[in-house]
Amino acid sequence: MQSFYITTAIDYVNGSPHLGHAYEKVLTDVIARFRRQMGDKVHFLTGVDEHGQKVQASAKKRGIAPQQFVDEVSAEFRALLPKLNISNDDFIRTTEPRHQQVVRAVLQQLFDKGEIYKAEYQGFYSTRQEQFLQNKDRNEDGTWPEIFGEVTEIVEANYFFKLAQYQEWLVKFLTDNPNFIFPAYRQKQVVEFLKEPLNDLCISRPKERLEWGIPLPFDEGYVTYVWFDALLNYYSAVVDRPEIWREAHHVIGKDILVPPHAVYWPIMLHAAGIPQPKGIIAHGWWLQRGAKMSKSTGNALNPLDLVTEFGVDAFRYFLIREMNVGQDSDFTLEQFMVRYNSELANNLGNLVNRTLNMTTRFAGGVLPAAEVAEDLEKHLHDLWAKTRDEFIPLCEGYQFHTALERAMVFLTETNAYIEKRAPWKLGKSAEPKDQALLRTSLATMAEALRLAVAIIQHITPATTEKINAVLGYQPGAAWRDELNWGTKLSGAKVAPALVLFPRPQPPAKPA
Ligand code: ME8
Ligand code: MG
Repeated sequence: MQSFYITTAIDYVNGSPHLGHAYEKVLTDVIARFRRQMGDKVHFLTGVDEHGQKVQASAKKRGIAPQQFVDEVSAEFRALLPKLNISNDDFIRTTEPRHQQVVRAVLQQLFDKGEIYKAEYQGFYSTRQEQFLQNKDRNEDGTWPEIFGEVTEIVEANYFFKLAQYQEWLVKFLTDNPNFIFPAYRQKQVVEFLKEPLNDLCISRPKERLEWGIPLPFDEGYVTYVWFDALLNYYSAVVDRPEIWREAHHVIGKDILVPPHAVYWPIMLHAAGIPQPKGIIAHGWWLQRGAKMSKSTGNALNPLDLVTEFGVDAFRYFLIREMNVGQDSDFTLEQFMVRYNSELANNLGNLVNRTLNMTTRFAGGVLPAAEVAEDLEKHLHDLWAKTRDEFIPLCEGYQFHTALERAMVFLTETNAYIEKRAPWKLGKSAEPKDQALLRTSLATMAEALRLAVAIIQHITPATTEKINAVLGYQPGAAWRDELNWGTKLSGAKVAPALVLFPRPQPPAKPA
């Protein structure tokens, strides 16, 4: 069995989780569930980034000790996962001993090899991005880009990792592995970035400035720079399981691709003699009125409000349907409602209602077998074959939004089939041919529904389960065998009704 290791970024616990964090978890979960369905042995890691200036400052603002602060906020991040139906196998906190030990061991190893030296650091620091900056990071007019938030100048003795000497190695690595970063245009940006000379990486902060971090093993007067600490979570979580590590894929947002994940991380691993991950998937941002949603700017949406109101699968469906992985997307409630109503309530919800209603009305609730295949049925069979054959490669290429669009076309055509077959008319006729067509139409709509919810089950797992249950169907273990048009449902006893994606109640009018 092929191993597949997938990780999310670990979130800073300086504020509550927002829609952007929820999206990353859902996207990663969709990939993890898809790979499991394809037969891989998946290991899915997520977690939290608990050290650094930003977290220390947030704890101070609350007037509590950093440990108490991270315990509280991390619990909130962790509690989000079951609410989003995330199927992670592990959850890591960077304050855990299992992680700290690995960070200290890697630092000591690099120090012993002469990869780390001490020098004066003079430069700028963005707490919001936890990033050391240079003058070249400024806008043309000399100001700092908005994303860095407040930037402070620092002058302090620090430890440096010899990053610059590996620049050529990294360029060659990316040339040899042209699909290391998805989407491909992001890898081009990294190569572009590497046309400028790299600086060595400052990897420490003196304890007088920052206490909240992992002490350097070779100088306890310093703590580890938070990015050097955080990146290692992917490795520390599976340090004793090299067969998993070798198949690592990192899902992250585009803001932390260059330089942390695409430059520091491969070089850190290379210098420490650890194999490289297989790939990085860099998604875009959820925006609100054109600005990145973020904890620091306070324009963030609480994902749980949407989950509570519309259900977890409507939420997962919308995020995956709306976002082309890699690009940005503006979140509006209007657009959410458009997709909810037209695609989930009308298209899928209607097919469920019709299938259950008509099977109950015309066949005593027991699904008959199809008896004929005229042009109307054949058209649907052919469309299904095409939908399925395109859907899987689209998912393999992270084009989930297009895959879902194809599934929706199939559902639309299934509803159109029902209109054309008009079982309600056939039901009034005693002609044997009409009766055969009626039974065929019931079997056909039910089978189309079974297939449609099987193929989208990594995106809407709970809904798929509910629909299978009302169809009286227990799917087999091999997902791909579930995707063949057949007779699996014939003889199944269906439930009379299922309420899915109800219309939200309009807010009460003030008296
Ligand atoms: O960067 N839309 O943590 P973080 C989409 N601790 N994704 C978004 C987003 C938005 N509006 N806002 C944030 C960190 N994200 C580090 C990571 S990994 C070793 C350390 C994504 O809490 C962001 O791109 O600022 C990142 O991938 C993740 O949420 C955590 O962001
Ligand atoms: Mg951030």
